[in-house]
Amino acid sequence: MTHYKSVLQEGYRIFGSGRTRDPVFGRRGLVTLSILTTVGKQFPAGPRYRVLPSRAGWIYGVGSGVYHRRPMGTLVALEGIDGSGKSTQASLLSDQLRARGFDAVVFREPGDSAFGEKLRQQFRDGRTISAKEEARLFIEDRRIDVRENIRPALVAGKVVVMDRYYFSTMAYQGALGLNTDQLREANELFAPRPDLTLILDLSAETSAERIHASRESPDSYEGTEYLRRVRELFLEFCESDVVTVDAAAEVSELSAEILRKVLAVVGGC
Ligand code: TYD
Repeated sequence: MTHYKSVLQEGYRIFGSGRTRDPVFGRRGLVTLSILTTVGKQFPAGPRYRVLPSRAGWIYGVGSGVYHRRPMGTLVALEGIDGSGKSTQASLLSDQLRARGFDAVVFREPGDSAFGEKLRQQFRDGRTISAKEEARLFIEDRRIDVRENIRPALVAGKVVVMDRYYFSTMAYQGALGLNTDQLREANELFAPRPDLTLILDLSAETSAERIHASRESPDSYEGTEYLRRVRELFLEFCESDVVTVDAAAEVSELSAEILRKVLAVVGGC
């Protein structure tokens, strides 16, 4: 069951290549399914004949739909607390990938959907909504990002660099008391799992110093105590495809390290 769930939701991970394959029900399967089931319903001669083509439709349709594998791009997520330099590093990374011939794009979350706008208003005017509602808005904003930007770019074979993704929801809304496993499940129902997540790790104190040196008004959630909890959660997420890098390092040094780790996944040097 878990295997099926992960196949359907996360797509195939082809061993050795590190490439993700499209998890969605293939168009070919869907078309075959509808043609054969419609044909099946046209048979007037009793259930025996009707059942056959429609059952064949299901078997072939579902089979070719689920097992239809389309080559996909690579998804890399940059995560970390405010001031950790994600945006700078996302842009450096995509430039360096393009210089090496990769078709790289950067998407930033929260995005510019109505949900993202509402969240930005919360950063400006102060948090007035519950943690649950906040998580819902981030998730709905991401659902649109996945549908309109991330998935099409992956299907087109691009390297997609995310400036924040769903580990941010797990850490930031998790730090408000929501269950991180449930947040993860809610996201992984629709959001493809990154091939690599890089957590740009920084102390909350350094983050606060950087933020106050660079900004006049808040455009994010930045209390030091809160960021300390967010950072702790980010550090708990370490897995084989979730790695931490030192965001206190010099920009070019950090950029070289990030590039090295990403090239190991996309294949290149
Ligand atoms: P962002 O625009 O990335 O801010 P910054 O450039 O300062 O890092 O994100 C704005 C804020 O939104 C930031 O404080 C983190 C928060 N956030 C969440 O709380 N949950 C989420 O799922 C995401 C994507 C961001």
